[in-house]
Amino acid sequence: MTKAKISRRALNAPASAIRKLVPFADQAKKKGIKVYHVNIGQPDLPTPEKIMNFIRNFPHQTLEYAPSNGMAESVSAWALFYKNKGGPYREDDIIVTSGGSEALVFAFFAVTDPGDEIIVFEPFYTSYAIIAAMANINLRAITTHVEDGFHLPDKKVIEKAVNKKTKAIILCNPNNPTGTLYTKEEVKMLVNLALKYNLFIISDEPYQEIVFDGKSVLPFSSFKELLPQLIVTDSVSKRFNSCGARVGCIASKNRQVMAASLKFGQARLSVATVDQLALVPLLTDHKSYVANVRKIYQKRRDVVVKELAKIPDVSFKIPQGAFYLIPSLPVTDSDDFARFLLEKFHDNGETVMVAPAAGFYKTEGLGKKEIRIAYVLEEKKLVRAIELLKLALNKFNRH
Ligand SMILES: Cc1ncc(COP(=O)(O)O)c(C=O)c1O
Repeated sequence: MTKAKISRRALNAPASAIRKLVPFADQAKKKGIKVYHVNIGQPDLPTPEKIMNFIRNFPHQTLEYAPSNGMAESVSAWALFYKNKGGPYREDDIIVTSGGSEALVFAFFAVTDPGDEIIVFEPFYTSYAIIAAMANINLRAITTHVEDGFHLPDKKVIEKAVNKKTKAIILCNPNNPTGTLYTKEEVKMLVNLALKYNLFIISDEPYQEIVFDGKSVLPFSSFKELLPQLIVTDSVSKRFNSCGARVGCIASKNRQVMAASLKFGQARLSVATVDQLALVPLLTDHKSYVANVRKIYQKRRDVVVKELAKIPDVSFKIPQGAFYLIPSLPVTDSDDFARFLLEKFHDNGETVMVAPAAGFYKTEGLGKKEIRIAYVLEEKKLVRAIELLKLALNKFNRH
């Protein structure tokens, strides 16, 4: 045993809440049980043929490094993507990153020093907490509630959380893990707060077009006066069913943020060459593909909502975007229930894996009755997955 010690930062970093049940799922599978995965945001939809064909027929002889800000073709493709959405970002405002995840790292590190704070609405995407731990910063979590459809609290509540150390507010709209589509009023309220207190807005946008019922996101970038304080973190993962491509971007009109991000990018040299080029056709012509993805998820959302409504004492508001939903269940500890599903339950050799919601909250003790469901399976499988949930709840509450 060595006496060399790892850092407090490393020790304190939280483990991914979504992945900790994986060994129990593996055990269940070893026993021959079929597990329906609604625990993780890995879509089952195929990656577009255009992308796969490019990879299969990659035309270059050598896999070279790419420029740290991204290959010219990829940067231009992202610029066209924003132009086609009516966004303000041009080539100079964009750095290609290794997924939205790296864009988040760059954004957090660009605007905070150790000890600083970023305001976040819990439940939130768990990587924010891990990146905050890496950066030695504090996430100031403002709680939202299942009975409000996880919409934002009053402006005064948010204002109270602002202090001298607050550097930014982060929002993912529509949201992971709640599926909430924040209203135009909510977006405007955050814009006003950011302007009043000179805060950055980090707008995490991997799901921006996956919005249902004919609605749409009011983008932060539509507020001209906010642009110098706005950082967009983006990704091809979900909208183009290309999670493994590891392509995203950071976009901002703030030159200092972009200069800092470029320095960070130079430390990792470049993003994978093949992946950057493979995504160009989708980025430059995204609308019809994404419209179809949106249709598929809306149908799945409807199925999940209909089936969940049949289970007594399960409560939720209908989500309007992304592909997630957090219902409250008649259990006292959804961690125990999620384990029960994998360890002690099956129906005809089948069970379902869910993500306990406590891992999406920063405040201890919250989310204990809730789970996150990612509707990333085809409709028939979703019906069965929710049926399994219902059967398991019956058994769990009797065992
Ligand atoms: C809210 C949110 N932000 C960012 C990401 C990062 O995705 P990626 O690194 O695959 O682009 C994800 C992925 O699940 C997410 O849900």
